[in-house]
Order: sequence, then C-alpha cells, then structure tokens
Amino acid sequence: MTVAAAQDHRDTHELRASAGAHLWRHFADMTTAADRPLNVMVRGEGCYLIDSEGNRYLDGLSNLFCVNLGYSYGEELGQAALDQYRLLGYHSSWGSTHPAAIELATVLADLAPANLNHVFFTPSGGESVEAAWKLAREYHSLRGEKRWKAIGRNLAYHGTTLGALSLNGLPELRSQFEPLVPGAAHVRNTKRFGRPASEPEADFTGFLLDDLEERILAEDPATIAMVIMEPVQNHGGALMPPAGYFAGVRALCDKYGILLVSDETITAFGRCGSWFASERFGMQPDIITTAKGLSSAYAVIGALIATEKVFSVFHQCGRKFTHGNTFGGHPVMAAVALRNIELMKELDLPGRVRNKESELRNKLEALSVLPAVVDVRGTGFFYAIELATTEPDGERFSDEKMRRLYGNDRLTDQLATHGVLLRLSMDGGDPVLCIAPPLVADTDEIDHLVEALEEVLTPLV
Ligand SMILES: Cc1ncc(COP(=O)(O)O)c(C=O)c1O
Repeated sequence: MTVAAAQDHRDTHELRASAGAHLWRHFADMTTAADRPLNVMVRGEGCYLIDSEGNRYLDGLSNLFCVNLGYSYGEELGQAALDQYRLLGYHSSWGSTHPAAIELATVLADLAPANLNHVFFTPSGGESVEAAWKLAREYHSLRGEKRWKAIGRNLAYHGTTLGALSLNGLPELRSQFEPLVPGAAHVRNTKRFGRPASEPEADFTGFLLDDLEERILAEDPATIAMVIMEPVQNHGGALMPPAGYFAGVRALCDKYGILLVSDETITAFGRCGSWFASERFGMQPDIITTAKGLSSAYAVIGALIATEKVFSVFHQCGRKFTHGNTFGGHPVMAAVALRNIELMKELDLPGRVRNKESELRNKLEALSVLPAVVDVRGTGFFYAIELATTEPDGERFSDEKMRRLYGNDRLTDQLATHGVLLRLSMDGGDPVLCIAPPLVADTDEIDHLVEALEEVLTPLV
C-alpha cells in the first residue's frame, strides 16, 4: 500500500486525537470546537485537496499562496529529488558549492528583471527578508555609511523572525514580542478603497509618495538602509499600486540613497502573470526576496536576488556578506525548484495566467452586485474580495453583527461545505476574502470557486 493510500485509511478520529495531543499548528487556535473538527488533508490532485474522510476541496488559495503548480506533480518533482539524493544528498553553498545551486542561480538570474543577477539562497520567505535587511545594512556599511533603518507599509506581512516581524505592519502580530528590532517604520499602503470617490488616481499616488517622503525625512534619510514593499500587497487584500507609484518610490529611494527591496514571496513565479511582479509594475528593485512559488512549495527553499550595484560593492571591497545558514540552497531543494521552473516553462504558467486573468476578474467582479461585496481587486491569479462592514446608511456594523458575520470561521466553513477552501483575513478590521488558486486552474475551477462564493455571499447581508 502506498503512503497516501495508507493515510487515507487511517482513522480520522485517531489522527485528530494525535494532532490535538502533539501537533502544535502554526498561528492556530489549539482549542478544537466540537462542532468544528480538525481537517486532516491526505492527498492533492490538480487544484483539489482531499481530506481523511474523502471530502474534496478546491484549494482557492494555493494553500498558503504557494502551490502554484497545483498538486499533481509529485512524480516529476519527486523524481528530481530522488535523482539529486542519489547524486549528492547535501552540500552547503558556503566555501564551495554544487551544480544544483549554480544552475538554479543561473536560471533565476535569467528570469529576474534586468540587472538582478546575484542569487543568495535561504530556507524561506521570512529568512529572505531577514537576509535582505542585513544585506542592505552591510552594503551601506561597506560604502562607509551607518544606515540601519527600514521602511515597510501598514498591514504588510514579511515573516515571523524578529527582523521580518519588525517590518510587518500588523501590530497584532508584533506587539506581544516587543521590544522588536529597532529602526522599522511604516507608511501608508496602497489601499484605495475608502478614499474619496472623486480623487483622481494621480492625486492618490501623490498622496502616498508624500507620505513616504515625509517618513523618510522624519527618520533622517542618512539612517535608512531600505524600503521594503510587495509589488501587490497581500495583507489588506491584494492591494494594487496606483499608476506611477513605483516609479515615484524608486525616485525617492534614489534621491536619498536607500535600497528598494521587492518582497516577492507571493507575487513571483506566475502569480501575477509574470515571473516577477516587480517587472509588471515597473518597480526596479535593488533586491528581490522570494520563496513559495520558487518550488511551488514542493521544497523548502527561498532566495534573495540582488542587482549588480549591490553585489559589486561586496565584490570591489573583496568582502563577504556576513550571513549564511545550513540549508540555504540545499541541493535537493534546488533540484526540485529547478524542475518546478522547468515545468512552469513547459506549461507557460505566467502566460497562462495572463490569458486567464480577465476571466477570473470578470467572474469575480460579477459578484459586486451582491450587497455583501464592496470591492474586488487584484491581478493575475491574486485577488481579494472586500466584504461589507456598514449598514446602508453608512453606519459601521455593530461588534455583535461583525462577529456573527465574520467570526468563528463561519464564512470559510460555509465555503468549505460548498467544496471550496478560502481564507478570510480581518487585517485592520476589514473582512477580506483572499483568492489565489493554483496557476493551473481552468474554467471549471474558476466557476466552482465563483459559484460557491455566490451561494455563500448572496444571503450574507
Ligand atoms: C510577502 C511575504 N513575505 C514573507 C513571507 C514569509 O514567508 P515564510 O512563511 O516562507 O517565512 C510571507 C509569507 O506568507 C509573505 O507573504
């Protein structure tokens, strides 16, 4: 019997009991309500997950925005892992290295926007961000400047290690761990919903750039090492940059000698219809951080990709970047990532997303007629539906009503009964359904997703 088949046959109660006794799940409330038993997923097929009781769910979030290829490539990626294990199960990329890391770095340098040519591997998105902050600090230090601060954006999420956590613009994740790494400041994000309807886009862009420049000046530009932003910000709900925004951010970074970091942990590898969303949105970063889709989450690997400008400072000074870890660029993880990228190229996933994105957008936007839906935004296969929080007279729902509508996972549980897994985030108090299906999703999956949303959202308010 295969492992998968054996797992399918294991008793669900037994699995739940063992999980309750021993498995400390991440960001999870560990009290299991009797009416909401723990879901144990045992198999994946295409865009679907199958639980230990045989229920099938469309994964509308690519798990954690990461299974870009979907779940049906275990054979190919497993074979790549096996081939590499047979050759060389581990070697670091410290003093010496190995072909898988070299080949993956070369492929990434080729796919990344022009001039981003130097790849430093990490085991995760958060550690890529952590490394980027340290790299920015050391870069300035080698140039004779003591710059240590970083500017991120409100509600943005960049990871959970203390440095990345300090960059998060989510006080509810940060405050219990204070004091955090000093020097992290936050500016407005690009959420346009809720701004005056008459405000021209150019004015909104100007408003955001003024806010950023004010923060830079208030912090003292000579102390700021980097600005970190996602091309499309996930937390807050697929927050799109207004026209001219990233050109303006780039210009401010240049004006004050600050490095611009694009956190592409989610937005790269086809999610936004291109290999890197920085390119699509004209961001021109000095450093890209990434992970997740790099291996479609079939392997534990992340990367930081730096420009010639950044690398050359280390090169010219004959100095090392004083940072490293055991598993960054692990040969098996690198081999899986390489095969993942090869498959993505064969399927032309970025091109596929560009061809399909208007279908997804149009079908999601059709839900805007529902009173529960107040905004639909996003790009590629990366969307958010913001849900109502006000009565027709504009008054905010009572706390009791907010809890009734959006509390206790009620909405996502209902979606699950229609066979669709999605996530409701409440960042900043605003309920947002995040939608990010695997990039192999087709019309059938899009229709299933939208029909479930329609069923659940129509009677909501
Ligand atoms: C934009 C962004 N940066 C960083 C991270 C952290 O990545 P990881 O969970 O791999 O550490 C995430 C995770 O969701 C993310 O969305």
